[in-house]
Amino acid sequence: MSAPATGPSAVDAPSKPRQILVTSALPYANGQIHIGHMVEHIQTDIWVRTLRMHGHEVYYVGADDTHGTPIMLSAEREGITPKQLIDRVWQEHTRDFASFGVQYDNYYTTHSEENRVLSESIYTSLQAAGLIEARDIEQAYDPVKEMFLPDRFIKGECPKCGAKDQYGDSCEVCGSTYQPTDLINPYSVVSGATPIRKVSTHYFFRLSDPRCENFLRGWVGGLAQQEATNKMREWLGDAGDAKLADWDISRDAPYFGFEIPGAPGKYFYVWLDAPVGYYASFKNLCEQRGIDFDAWVRKDSTTEQYHFIGKDILYFHTLFWPAMLEFSGHRTPTNVFAHGFLTVDGTKMSKSRGTFITAKSYIDTGLNPEWLRYYYAAKLNSTMEDIDLNLGDFQARVNSDLVGKYVNIASRAAGFLIKRFDGRIQDSAMRHPLLDTLRAAIPQIAAHYEARDYGRALRTTMELADSVNGYVDTAKPWDQAKDPANAVALHETCSVSIEAFRLLSLALKPVLPKLAQSVEAFLDIAPQVWADANTPLTSQRPINAYQHLMTRVDPKQIDALLAANRESLQATGTATAAEPAAASGAKASAKAAASAKTAAQAATDTPDVISIDDFAKIDLRIAKIVDCRAVEGSDKLLQLTLDVGEEKTRNVFSGIKSAYQPEQLIGKLTVMVANLAPRKMKFGLSEGMVLAASATDEKAEPGLYLLEPNSGAKPGMRVK
Ligand code: MSP
Ligand code: ZN
Repeated sequence: MSAPATGPSAVDAPSKPRQILVTSALPYANGQIHIGHMVEHIQTDIWVRTLRMHGHEVYYVGADDTHGTPIMLSAEREGITPKQLIDRVWQEHTRDFASFGVQYDNYYTTHSEENRVLSESIYTSLQAAGLIEARDIEQAYDPVKEMFLPDRFIKGECPKCGAKDQYGDSCEVCGSTYQPTDLINPYSVVSGATPIRKVSTHYFFRLSDPRCENFLRGWVGGLAQQEATNKMREWLGDAGDAKLADWDISRDAPYFGFEIPGAPGKYFYVWLDAPVGYYASFKNLCEQRGIDFDAWVRKDSTTEQYHFIGKDILYFHTLFWPAMLEFSGHRTPTNVFAHGFLTVDGTKMSKSRGTFITAKSYIDTGLNPEWLRYYYAAKLNSTMEDIDLNLGDFQARVNSDLVGKYVNIASRAAGFLIKRFDGRIQDSAMRHPLLDTLRAAIPQIAAHYEARDYGRALRTTMELADSVNGYVDTAKPWDQAKDPANAVALHETCSVSIEAFRLLSLALKPVLPKLAQSVEAFLDIAPQVWADANTPLTSQRPINAYQHLMTRVDPKQIDALLAANRESLQATGTATAAEPAAASGAKASAKAAASAKTAAQAATDTPDVISIDDFAKIDLRIAKIVDCRAVEGSDKLLQLTLDVGEEKTRNVFSGIKSAYQPEQLIGKLTVMVANLAPRKMKFGLSEGMVLAASATDEKAEPGLYLLEPNSGAKPGMRVK
């Protein structure tokens, strides 16, 4: 006999399911998924699961953001095509999201036919609406590489403090901000050449048009977050202020992206086709599942559309994207939900500290992905505040909440139920007032999740867990079990406990989907949805033997995680665009945000072990030192002129002055890295690197030894 539902507030299935499209920002297709990206994906996934558990029709789509200069250059550095690069990264990203239980309905790519068609059609509509304008602009150009340079690809000396190797927008040493044109001795990060100014025709989306401004002023009223609304009001200024600048949506070849219809050699700027990528991914899903795409995206659609993003890309999602949709005849987003940035132990993620933690390393180290889901959820709310992963707190909280308070309830009750009562609960116990309290709390918890106040949902859940533990501590089943006369009371205690455990599992389900599945198997119940708050366990279906549901975090695992991510080898003598991500802080303007993005996506990762393919990327050559001299003003460097069997000799600066007199080296053969990006140094351009041996601890054991091949080797020979 199944006991009747007794909760005072039944969770009813929705009378009319809502139709909801949800997205997370599309990660750049170079660089690995890290635990900062995971904040967003876990946040979105929890929300999606919450709404699915109400029975709504929810689609969660995403994609890799594959276009743009950094991806083009990354592929070039690796000696592969952009397509090869993005295909490989897509595999990695899909694997990483799946490993954290992020349940996409479709994870696609912006480099797709659907996206090309949609981007072109949106562009063409904007053009027809008179919102696209061609204009000549002057820009930095790399005369060696023959390409226009995005700001993040120009470095030079800070105009204020003279610090070297600073980006074109701000100085990391003195903190001042300036224009790229203000840099002293600017150089292209791509080739080392001095940029020149060059004019080219660009296409602009006329955001300054009064129609756009009026529309956005109205649209901002519907934004869920006060901070986002304030930001937008700041960008929009007072009525009639005309503060919005037109948006440059084209880039010149060479560019990896979609060519603009009717404009040969001009490409859509990556940020034009990136948000369209949400729709392209959804369209692809619609084709697979026979969903009516048009009904979801047309102007009068009754469906809902939500975008989860980081606060750094608010500008793109609350100005450009809604305006693009509005003036191309589409519906606009129902809401945009921005979150803050992740810090680890209170500071920006850092490669040297090992806190730039990749999703893969977390999994590979054997940490449970649901620990991180729980920890993030406990810290997340609906605001744009940054969230901190404090590793000590992570361990303490997971161990105390999940293992100590929650899982413990099941392990204590299940043993007696199985041994003494054949795994069957006592049906009358299902009417216990403690259970009524829990059932009544479920709709509130579900509402907190929907309001994206996950911290509150979990605090409520843990308070309930406390009261359940209090109940068990008072009832003392371990004492009750000593006297057979107390069998009924013991049965009640364990039945109430296990039903309470079912309800707590329901409350935690959006956050811990995998654990929820194990619990459902253990209790032999169907996958739980919110309405099941009022579907108590029944004696008809005995529970299964308890199996361990979750282990504690071991501090050794945290150490191993940091070690796996710590970059011990500092790349020296390289001049790549790969600077560590500037991964914090909302950017006041889209321009600043966009340039911070470029740095973020250029961040590379150095694994402990490399594949033979990685090794093959290094072009090692025999070089003959045809000339060698001291460098005036430097006590470390020698200037080498190297013959590597090419038409021209190479100029290389090498820090080996302490070990050799210049004349000693002239005429000798050595080994050089021939495909290192040239690096502009104070004394001139360095076009490679020679190899020398030294002790790990150079202070304790000084000495530098230039490599020299056995006799017979000739300049230009490949070393492999
Ligand atoms: N490709 C763009 C988004 C295009 S959406 C049409 C992009 N990519 S990204 O890889 O740099 O970032 C993807 C998302 O991850 C962004 O929402 C960004 O805010 C978020 N995060 C990246 N680093 C993060 C942290 N350290 N902390 C929290 N979120 C972070 O931007
Ligand atoms: Zn400075």
